Amino acid sequence: MRRPLVAGNWKMHGSRDSVGTLLNGLMAQSVPETVDVAVCPTYVHLDQAVAACANSVIAVGAQDCWHAEPGAYTGDVAAVMLEELGCEWVILGHSERRSYHAEADALIAAKLQAAAAAGLKPIVCVGETLDQRESGEAEAVVARQLRGSLEGAVGTAGLVIAYEPVWAIGTGLTASPEQAQQMHAFIRKQLQDLGVDAQQTRILYGGSVKPGNAGELFAQDDIDGALVGGAALKAEDFNAIIAAAG
Ligand code: G3H
Repeated sequence: MRRPLVAGNWKMHGSRDSVGTLLNGLMAQSVPETVDVAVCPTYVHLDQAVAACANSVIAVGAQDCWHAEPGAYTGDVAAVMLEELGCEWVILGHSERRSYHAEADALIAAKLQAAAAAGLKPIVCVGETLDQRESGEAEAVVARQLRGSLEGAVGTAGLVIAYEPVWAIGTGLTASPEQAQQMHAFIRKQLQDLGVDAQQTRILYGGSVKPGNAGELFAQDDIDGALVGGAALKAEDFNAIIAAAG
């Protein structure tokens, strides 16, 4: 069966001090043997997280990478650099990158190729906006994002998909377990149609996951863990979400 994965996306939060406190709080609780855990800080806090997690089962990931080999790309970070630093995971195509940086599916697919070639495991994010859901387009949008972002991704080791309805991110609105399960089952079917090993591919839910709703989300057949934003910034909450996955 698929092992649950709980990944914390720290977004553009943290200072050396607050990151140190958070990491200490995560180290204070043991992770259930049945659960995989990752934390994804900003680029500048990656070294701190890698050092703190060195003797733990918690893996470290980046929030993005560039699609090309090291070269003249001001401000970007190559996948091979992240791997060299000790990252195991990389989040790609988060809705905040799609929206604030106009990232299109083709770019995300190119980043996925670079990440896989560097030995990073990609967490590819998809999800519809509120308008798209209300106009009945949610499945079509997610199918299009999967098709475009996963171009050439068949056989990618460790590929993970995160379904994050944009309307549930940072809003306190969570998709109901039934809504989330329905979309996760749809995503699994799409993966199968794309030739991806759908039964082995973990599909995470993201969007206002909290200790209070994690258990009922994780109880759904096709929800294999969570990509957690706000609640990942509090060790107590993140530890509780990890425990709910165990
Ligand atoms: O990547 C994480 C998501 O954007 C979810 O963020 O848990 O703060 O809603 P949130």
